[in-house]
Amino acid sequence: MEQIHAQRGTQDILPADAGRWQTVEAVMRGEAEINGFGEIRTPVFEDTRLFQRSVGETTDVVQKEMYTFEDKGGRSVTLKPEGTAGTVRAYLEHGLSNEPMPVKLYYATPCYRYEKAQAGRLREFHQFGAEMFGAALPVADAGLIAFAHSLFERLRVKNLVLKINSIGCPACRAEFTKALRAYFTARRDRLCETCLSRLDRNPMRILDCKNPECAEVAKGAPSILNYLCPDCRAHFGQVRENLDAVGIRYEVDPTMVRGLDYYTRTVFEFVSGDLGAQSTVCGGGRYDGLVEQMGGKPTPALGFALGIERLLMIMAAQKVEFPAPQTCGLYVASVGGAAQKEAFRMAHKLRGCGVAAACDEVGRSLNAQMKYAGKIHARFTLVLGDDELASGKGTVKNMKTGEKTKVDLKADLEGQFAAISSEAEDGDLTF
Ligand code: HAM
Repeated sequence: MEQIHAQRGTQDILPADAGRWQTVEAVMRGEAEINGFGEIRTPVFEDTRLFQRSVGETTDVVQKEMYTFEDKGGRSVTLKPEGTAGTVRAYLEHGLSNEPMPVKLYYATPCYRYEKAQAGRLREFHQFGAEMFGAALPVADAGLIAFAHSLFERLRVKNLVLKINSIGCPACRAEFTKALRAYFTARRDRLCETCLSRLDRNPMRILDCKNPECAEVAKGAPSILNYLCPDCRAHFGQVRENLDAVGIRYEVDPTMVRGLDYYTRTVFEFVSGDLGAQSTVCGGGRYDGLVEQMGGKPTPALGFALGIERLLMIMAAQKVEFPAPQTCGLYVASVGGAAQKEAFRMAHKLRGCGVAAACDEVGRSLNAQMKYAGKIHARFTLVLGDDELASGKGTVKNMKTGEKTKVDLKADLEGQFAAISSEAEDGDLTF
């Protein structure tokens, strides 16, 4: 029968790789807690209008990339292309705005974008993200950037460039939009179809177009930094001062506008030279208008999201070492039916005490069992045969050093094994 394959742009995470995922997720959750963020989990699918209204009708994500379908009840639903929209919806739906401000939420979630799949650009990918509501001060922007920065430090990721920019508030952006429209209108014959449609509705999106010709034209476009109103200018200045105060280095990139419509003022990205074309590993910024736009009270807000696949790609390229995966603690080999039962009883008992114990479940010869124990990197082995059953005594072997220790099979197994294995403890790598 024809074999069915995984969908283009999706990845299976096999046990050999899952340990790395667990490690980075544990570091992220730990940093989130240290920074005062609590976890939120929102559904994978939402009402399509949620993303149209928040991410924005003129963005690539909404225009080209959403997984939208009609469910059996005739509703239009969309698989989440990002985590912010659902978080804002849940924040409003559950009255989190009544909690003491700022409300700080984090998530780790799969996201879906129908993009041309390539290295680092997937159709199903995973984001770790953080969103913060009710914090208007520039110190919040710097704190959030510092949070993302500390994640990379903890994970020993090097050579990232932090780019920051301010894209202003609706007031200063109105002037900027006018200037942009005039600039691009004069060069409209060089723009792609999509950008022509953006010219009237949202010329700032042209700055983010991936079409090489549009990108070339965009290079000479007016700079937002020349159009910031005094408040936005002061805010941006103070974000920078706060970053300077904690020694976080950044580059100001006046051409960076980000690909989603909800941003105001500060935007930022962490970019890596180890990622090829998809160089942004983390992006975020302020979205002071979004909560109100989604039906809430005016609420300053900001956040970021980091692509876990891209993070792991960088870590692989930089050969960052991960803790060794948990291997079998004790393999109890057996010869004969009675010994097999005893091996199972022992393994079960030890597992109950948190020891990763294993016994034969395949019917291998003793020789093959020992080979198998080597393959699964069992730290210790114990062989049970007629002699051991009769005497109630056995020998535990350290597979690395060859050292042998006698054990009493009838006495406290867990205690004996704990003593043997703690002596053999080798310095485990931790983050
Ligand atoms: P974004 O820049 O669209 O922002 O995505 C954030 C990160 O998700 C990217 O930097 C990248 O690492 C990863 N990512 C995006 N698309 C893909 C893809 N097709 N394949 C693999 N990784 C991908 C947001 O989504 C905003 N919601 C971030 C944010 C939160 N802003 C404020 N709060």
